[in-house]
Amino acid sequence: MRKLRIALWALVLVTGAFAGGLAWWARGDRTAPVRTVSVDPTAIGGPFRLKTHDGRTLSSEDLKGTPFAVFFGFTHCPDVCPTTLFEMTEHLKALGADADKLRVLFVTVDPDRDTRELLATYLQSFDPRIIGLTGTRAEVDAAVNAYRATYRKVPTQGGDYTMDHTATVFLMDRAGRFAGGLDFHEPKETQLKKLRRLVAG
Ligand code: NI
Repeated sequence: MRKLRIALWALVLVTGAFAGGLAWWARGDRTAPVRTVSVDPTAIGGPFRLKTHDGRTLSSEDLKGTPFAVFFGFTHCPDVCPTTLFEMTEHLKALGADADKLRVLFVTVDPDRDTRELLATYLQSFDPRIIGLTGTRAEVDAAVNAYRATYRKVPTQGGDYTMDHTATVFLMDRAGRFAGGLDFHEPKETQLKKLRRLVAG
């Protein structure tokens, strides 16, 4: 099964690369063949100061000495955010007592709608140890930029909007250094292994 899965992934990647290459060739755009964002991993992470869903202030300083997982999203997200929150809930359960050595942070990129109260209500569906964070637009942007994450407001029909956003869960070690990421495409066991390593490190 594992070999098959790897083979399938390789196929998906090759197909994707081929399609991307074709699209590039067809456009005749020779300057930007692939849209990639390369980020220096040592540059991921930095100072932030936000409000938790239960009304406290949490800053990067408060997290010194504690490994944590942080990701960016919004409560109206139809798929990636609830899936990630559900998976993090499962991981915390699987970690057992070790889960208490880890902080899991969910930072909204939609502070206009995601008030502290809405975050609190939304997070009731997930592990109570997951901390929702919001703030002013400037405070949120400071956190987003510190993690080299991105988001974009996308208008939808009827005057509504959705948010495109970085889906990676950033893992930060107790020294506040980037220790890798979780990708929601990867197997749950792989994610759990990374979390165990983070907590032990
Ligand atoms: Ni989302």
